[in-house]
Amino acid sequence: MPNDRDTEAAPDDALLTAFSGYITQHLGLHFPRGQWAELVRAALALDSAGAGACMRRLMAAPPTRGQIEQLAGQLTVGETYFFREPAVFDALEHEVLPALIAARRAAGRTLRVWSAGCCTGEELYSVAILLQRLMPDLADWRISLLGTDVNPVFLRKAEQGRYRDWSFRAVPAWLRQRHFGPPQDGLRAIAPALRRGVRFDYLNLAADLFPGPEAGAPTMDLILCRNVLMYFEPASAARALQRLGRALAPDGWLAVGMAEAGHALLTPFEPVRFPAALLYRQRPDAPPPGAAPAAASVSCAVPAAVPMLAASAEPAPALALRARLSADRGLLDDASLCCAAAIATDKCDPALRYLRALILEEQGRSGEAIGALKDALYLDPDFVLAHFTLGSLCRRNGAAREAQRHFANALELLRGHAPDDVLAHSGGVRAGELADLMRAGAGAT
Ligand SMILES: C[S@@+](CC[C@H](N)C(=O)[O-])C[C@H]1O[C@@H](n2cnc3c(N)ncnc32)[C@H](O)[C@@H]1O
Repeated sequence: MPNDRDTEAAPDDALLTAFSGYITQHLGLHFPRGQWAELVRAALALDSAGAGACMRRLMAAPPTRGQIEQLAGQLTVGETYFFREPAVFDALEHEVLPALIAARRAAGRTLRVWSAGCCTGEELYSVAILLQRLMPDLADWRISLLGTDVNPVFLRKAEQGRYRDWSFRAVPAWLRQRHFGPPQDGLRAIAPALRRGVRFDYLNLAADLFPGPEAGAPTMDLILCRNVLMYFEPASAARALQRLGRALAPDGWLAVGMAEAGHALLTPFEPVRFPAALLYRQRPDAPPPGAAPAAASVSCAVPAAVPMLAASAEPAPALALRARLSADRGLLDDASLCCAAAIATDKCDPALRYLRALILEEQGRSGEAIGALKDALYLDPDFVLAHFTLGSLCRRNGAAREAQRHFANALELLRGHAPDDVLAHSGGVRAGELADLMRAGAGAT
């Protein structure tokens, strides 16, 4: 006899679109069409009545904390290990932390670190290890090491501080032996001294108050939010970044993941390049900590004049048209403003990010153009022209291997088109023409 779950129809596009939006709204996470199977799998795991029933039940009312935790348990990625991306920890150990420690030694001996999206704690304990190494007078300091996450299972493991060998895959054996106990049941416990000042707490980056001025607390000296916002929908990531900026001390530092560094969403921060890592500081003109957000910075770091244009309530297509006309006439500043206003009006249109990239490239700002193209691809991974243009820019900037990767992506996508197909957002370019161009090496121009 079939049960309800067997007979329930698979969720249709409308339901999945709504549920994906619900997940973005409440968890920040981005599940575009290509990842809807993940949503169905999660819903099936949560409700024996079936995926569609689960989605409808959840969306019927604002989620409870328990429901958020259940969803996070199904939908978050728990990949982490000690000293992940060692170049970031090299920069922290040799440049960032010594400078911060010197500054704070002269001002109250207090240091606050926040690992936002800490997962099972390896990232925060890695910082604790660095501090122990760098601060012989650690006992005289007030140190706060806060790890937060939305997944309670990860948080419990972080609190236990017991790790399998897999968590040590990037560190030398001596470090494991020095800072952890002997293995018991395959798990090594972090040394008690490294737990000093460490606290793990539940915090949903898409919904909850951030520690720091928002919560009536002091700012953070170092925030690590690594490999977290790459799973966020861009507008949610932009909002979280803006709030991270307000939680950060004026001379504080923000570390993001290697895959996230250089992204256009980070333009509210000032990038600082280290030998093999990119970290971020407050911009010198950043508003004071805790200040109310400037309207412009909500919209993915668009120029300050943009809210006025956006406030003119022109629809995005009209603004985009004005941007194109201005660009055609060589009025690049106007084009840039109109395009930014269009993006402020419609943050999820990949064509607008592509247009922004073309304008930035015309302005000679090719680093930012590359960021805008990555934004476009984040919004639409199948955007052939964005892959092609990104390949061209990378090759022009001497990044030959990255260029090859983007051209290969573009060619792969073109295989799914007939030669006469006009490519999306291309103003009339046909699939066959672009494939011929790439085969002839014209991407090198
Ligand atoms: C891939 S892990 C990154 C862990 C660590 N930061 C690192 O780089 O190794 C991503 C973490 O982000 C957390 N996360 C995802 N969405 C979140 C949200 N809305 N609020 C807080 N944490 C979130 C996940 O639970 C997961 O622990």
